Amino acid sequence: MAQSMHQPVPVIAIDGPGGAGKGTISQAVAGQLGWHLLDSGSLYRVTAFAADRKGVALEDSEAVSEVARTLDVRFEYTGTDTRIMLEENDVTNSIRTEEVGKMASVVAADSAVRQALIERQRAFARPPGLVADGRDMGTIVFRDAGLKIFLTASVEERARRRYKQLKDKGMDVSLPALSRDMKERDRRDSERSVAPLRAADDARVLDSTELAIPEVVALVISWVNEVFPP
Ligand code: DC
Repeated sequence: MAQSMHQPVPVIAIDGPGGAGKGTISQAVAGQLGWHLLDSGSLYRVTAFAADRKGVALEDSEAVSEVARTLDVRFEYTGTDTRIMLEENDVTNSIRTEEVGKMASVVAADSAVRQALIERQRAFARPPGLVADGRDMGTIVFRDAGLKIFLTASVEERARRRYKQLKDKGMDVSLPALSRDMKERDRRDSERSVAPLRAADDARVLDSTELAIPEVVALVISWVNEVFPP
């Protein structure tokens, strides 16, 4: 019987604070390469959203991790975007609100919840490759990723970008409130004891404050070509 050689799936881990552009950049890079995409934040958002809907207290570690473990979630690529289906209902827009973002950062601080979501995230690593976007992709979930990027930008710039993103979706938001929430979320994500937001020791730090999206994408693609030569 012929033995198939096990080739590790190439993984690009993109971590960084909220609003740094990880989602946009990861989607563009995955699209250009034709690789799979993992938006890990959406798993924490869906978990918080589903728990809240079921009337589970977000501080109830056991109950929330059970929600995470049994989550019936599907990512459906439509050809233009990815819809997030929770129990076959499209929750893509509902989980993008600031309120759900805050709830997500609460459940994400719970180690049992994180553990419950780890294998689900690793299952996204399938050929030809994966672009994984989150907070702990390079430090925990995909420690062996061939390319690790810590994408950041100043808090003012990140708040401005998030403001524009939400406004474009027709949501009613205030820039000072967003900026305040963003600092608070940064603090919670960075100071938590489990899987805190930090750059992996072997990550390349990319500050996008002064860069346009195509410039960031081009830089990442040049790194991909260097690290994973065709
Ligand atoms: O990237 P986002 O805003 O969708 O993430 C929502 C929350 O989930 C955010 O507070 C950080 C948390 N998160 C995490 O702890 N680990 C990840 N890999 C992704 C997100």
